[in-house]
Amino acid sequence: MQNKKIKLIVAVGKQNQIGLNGGMPWHLSDDLKNFKKLTQGNIVIMGRKTFESIGKALPNRLNFVVTSDPSSIASYEVCTFPSLEKALQKAGTLNLDTFIIGGATIYNQAIDKVDEMIITEVEYDGEADTFFPEIDFSAWKEAGRKKYTSDQKNNFDFDIITYLKIPTDEK
Ligand SMILES: NC(=O)c1ccc[n+]([C@@H]2O[C@H](COP(=O)([O-])OP(=O)(O)OC[C@H]3O[C@@H](n4cnc5c(N)ncnc54)[C@H](OP(=O)(O)O)[C@@H]3O)[C@@H](O)[C@H]2O)c1
Repeated sequence: MQNKKIKLIVAVGKQNQIGLNGGMPWHLSDDLKNFKKLTQGNIVIMGRKTFESIGKALPNRLNFVVTSDPSSIASYEVCTFPSLEKALQKAGTLNLDTFIIGGATIYNQAIDKVDEMIITEVEYDGEADTFFPEIDFSAWKEAGRKKYTSDQKNNFDFDIITYLKIPTDEK
């Protein structure tokens, strides 16, 4: 079996904001397109609140939802897991990439387990109630960056950046 990667994908504001009132504080159509392109055909792992904010299983992906109460989402086409570890264990048996897609509780538990981060840095400096953890960027190298300018479909400027974990023997 190929060595598939565990990746984290997130959009963050200037102060690490990621969520507001159960949703996201911006609308970035081109970022959503990139999210779809990268995650299609792979596994997405999310917390129960993020699943509720999406409101359905993401099509053409294996949806793994972490929850202590699987009965609350039993009617959806998703697999539920009682912990992130159990979800990652199952993902490791499948020949697919795994994307950690949030929210904050899941990012916090996953950050030490991922090989790659795709971070959308949004020029947003406003209100939020959910935040991405502080990252030690000395452990990561930037491997690519694409800039987007706000327009009718994207209400803020943003950059999409790929970070790769620096192997410990290269530090
Ligand atoms: N900007 C972005 O890229 C982005 C991405 C994703 C989400 N978001 C935003 O983030 C917010 C949601 O994030 P959140 O941190 O509040 O919630 P979350 O991480 O999506 O979900 C939290 C829930 O996940 C379950 N969970 C987490 N760890 C668990 C564990 N170890 N064992 C069992 N269950 C566990 C629990 O579900 P139960 O209560 O059912 O047990 C917990 O209440 C929303 O505003 C969303 O829009 C933003």
